[in-house]
Amino acid sequence: MPRAQIRLLHRVEEFRQCERIQKSVWGNVGVSGELLAVTQKYGGVVLGAVVGGKVVGCLYAFLACRHKALIHWSHIMAVEPGYRDQGLGFLMKLAHRRLALAQGIKSICWTYDPLQSRNAALNITRLGARVEEYIPDCYGRFPSAIEKGLPSDRFVVDWRIASPAAESRLREGRQPCPYDPARLPRANETRLNVQGFIENVRLHLRLRAPRPLVEIPSNTDAMRSKDLKLARRWRTDTRKIFQHYLAAGYRVEDFLPPSPASGGRCYYVLRR
Ligand SMILES: CC(C)(COP(=O)(O)OP(=O)(O)OC[C@H]1O[C@@H](n2cnc3c(N)ncnc32)[C@H](O)[C@@H]1OP(=O)(O)O)[C@@H](O)C(=O)NCCC(=O)NCCS
Repeated sequence: MPRAQIRLLHRVEEFRQCERIQKSVWGNVGVSGELLAVTQKYGGVVLGAVVGGKVVGCLYAFLACRHKALIHWSHIMAVEPGYRDQGLGFLMKLAHRRLALAQGIKSICWTYDPLQSRNAALNITRLGARVEEYIPDCYGRFPSAIEKGLPSDRFVVDWRIASPAAESRLREGRQPCPYDPARLPRANETRLNVQGFIENVRLHLRLRAPRPLVEIPSNTDAMRSKDLKLARRWRTDTRKIFQHYLAAGYRVEDFLPPSPASGGRCYYVLRR
């Protein structure tokens, strides 16, 4: 792949390419070229990952007010499927951080689907964003090729871009686990079914341990394509688990992405 350039987008043609990416990723255009253009000019950021003159990824954020502070709300980031897992999402987030810091912004917030393990790996593991809220059916039923009609539950994350924690996460990456995940209690017991998808066997909502794990599938998109009923159950089950434990005083401390050591399984780590 030719080197990707991460830069602000300015031309109408480039904003049209962002519409094309949204269509290819979600099946519809949530933020029109006009809105991208006006946000870029008057109070926000539209970044692109450009490869050989083609925009293959984009990030859109606007100025917003949250908890009485001026922040950037990042409403969209997408990378075309053929260009994923090459660090473009990470590089766009880093470029966004630099621009926001230069504007005196200390916090970038956005939402993501807790069942999307790739997003969790990027947002929590790599960037060190903090989960602040669980919103059931955040956007209502909206036409999205990713959602496939499931309720659009979302975590709200706050990436405190000037904090020492975020800085050290970016500088040093994730440090080795100070605990052995295999010994931590599980809020959901799972098993692999005949289709090769994991399913919940039992939920545990009365744990009091300091660090319970919540397993999620590492292949949510494939599951939604092949077994929507199971994917719907995952939505209901994880909604129960996260709502319960966040209300009980736990927070999301980390995300353990799939690895050979974990047999390809991945987990949120909750912390009381
Ligand atoms: C989310 C998205 C923008 C990320 O873009 P990207 O360029 O693939 O991101 P990166 O390559 O920087 O990071 C992806 C990380 O996920 C990891 N990953 C890949 N597959 C994974 C999986 N199944 N489970 C967990 N992590 C996974 C990668 O290894 C990488 O981590 P690493 O850099 O530590 O190795 C892209 O996947 C996308 O467009 N998704 C659909 C739209 C969306 O969900 N947008 C965000 C909400 S608006």
